[in-house]
Amino acid sequence: MRKVEIIEKMEITGISSTGKAVGRKDNQVIFVNQGAPGDLIDIKIIGREKKYLIGYPIFFHRKSIDRTAPLCEHFGVCGGCKWQHLSYPAQLRFKSQQVRENLRKISKMRLPEAEPILGSVETDHYRNKLEYTFSNKKWLTQEEIQKKGLINKNALGFHIPKMFDKILDINHCHLQPNPSNEIRSALKNFANTQDLTFYDIRKQKGLLRNLIIRTTTTQETMVIVQFGEADQEKIKKVMQFLSEKFPRLSSLLYLVNLKKNETIYDQQIMTHMGKDFIIEKIGNLRFKIGPKSFFQTNPKQAYELYKKIEEFADLKGKEIVFDLYSGTGTIANFIAKSCRKVIGIESVPEAVEDARINSTLNKIYNTAFYAGDMKNMLSGSFIKIHGRPELVITDPPRMGMHQNVINALVQLNPERIIYVSCNPATQARDMELMSDHYVAIKTQPIDMFPHTQHIENIVLLNSKEYVQRS
Ligand SMILES: C[S@@+](CC[C@H](N)C(=O)[O-])C[C@H]1O[C@@H](n2cnc3c(N)ncnc32)[C@H](O)[C@@H]1O
Repeated sequence: MRKVEIIEKMEITGISSTGKAVGRKDNQVIFVNQGAPGDLIDIKIIGREKKYLIGYPIFFHRKSIDRTAPLCEHFGVCGGCKWQHLSYPAQLRFKSQQVRENLRKISKMRLPEAEPILGSVETDHYRNKLEYTFSNKKWLTQEEIQKKGLINKNALGFHIPKMFDKILDINHCHLQPNPSNEIRSALKNFANTQDLTFYDIRKQKGLLRNLIIRTTTTQETMVIVQFGEADQEKIKKVMQFLSEKFPRLSSLLYLVNLKKNETIYDQQIMTHMGKDFIIEKIGNLRFKIGPKSFFQTNPKQAYELYKKIEEFADLKGKEIVFDLYSGTGTIANFIAKSCRKVIGIESVPEAVEDARINSTLNKIYNTAFYAGDMKNMLSGSFIKIHGRPELVITDPPRMGMHQNVINALVQLNPERIIYVSCNPATQARDMELMSDHYVAIKTQPIDMFPHTQHIENIVLLNSKEYVQRS
């Protein structure tokens, strides 16, 4: 048996650039789950990596003043809101630091003083999309393990971090407004009483596989049920149950997915009831969201984000703007009124189609959207057709921009680039790659994801050539 390793009286001194509470003992770096800067604690070591140890607190000699009582019964087990034990002002402080540290260490640009972080309008029930997984391998709590007798091992919830086949059964999630919790609970109870099978990821079989719920501030709701078996009779039974129990759903969809992973981008989606899309409103604009489209997950805060982008863009009416990684065209449509035209580029064809529809829906006629992988899109012929943009807004996924995209951007040399990112580390890496040609003018952290370590950051970059000329 392995010796239990306890470290006594260690102080948590900060939050790492990846969002983990960190302390040191005899020069050894230790990341502490559920730790808070200012804690003085005894720690049990539960993991060992090359450069650091991982532990969790077993005794508090002193508790950090930044601590608060977590809201959720699943805190500590669920992989979701890992910062619930930190007060919201402390979360914002640590997030600002995280952005600053990443940009300072990696970007190689001289940085302006950051604008004060914009906290989220809502800190609970702020998410508009959740994805739950069905599993016959429920993560068992200590009480369940100790209880004698048969345990129902079916679960509908979230993956336990780093365990692909274990799912935490969720009783209540504070991330998404109702009817999210009601739908999840009702479907799970129905499936259990009807003896419908929950997915077994190792054996790749089982009827019920995944449940996606998308809500909006307009009260429209989309539900997508993913089945792992093509048993039409049982599928009908499940879908009928949902349509009768939740007759006000705007869009009730399903798919049968027999491939290995759960992603739906390459799958055919069927409509059981209502429309195959929902409508969200941001400011005065309406947006169509299909089942495969990306949409900012915190819609009220997305409005704040887009207003900031508009402010940074400072458009005068004559500019050509490129909106890279345009999703359903939200940014493009938001700023279109202030410039000559906006060209959006995005890889998911369905999102591009939605972006076009969103322009029509809002009577916006100076936008155009193109589908394709960004690294192949910014070619000379593309620029010849659409013109050279004065401003490029780029909002890539977490991994940042491909080197070819950065090369193309540098060659294109727009006067200004607004770089929106949900990952300050890759944002800083990409800034470094542009640092010979661009200078940072403004940076603005904005919190889209309360109770998590994630943070959005906007950076305004000006071309050095443009700065010298003006
Ligand atoms: C962070 S989202 C930004 C969406 C949009 N700007 C918004 O605010 O709703 C990133 C988008 O990049 C798209 N994407 C990911 N990889 C891409 C690639 N290689 N080329 C083009 N688009 C890509 C995704 O489909 C997604 O819509």
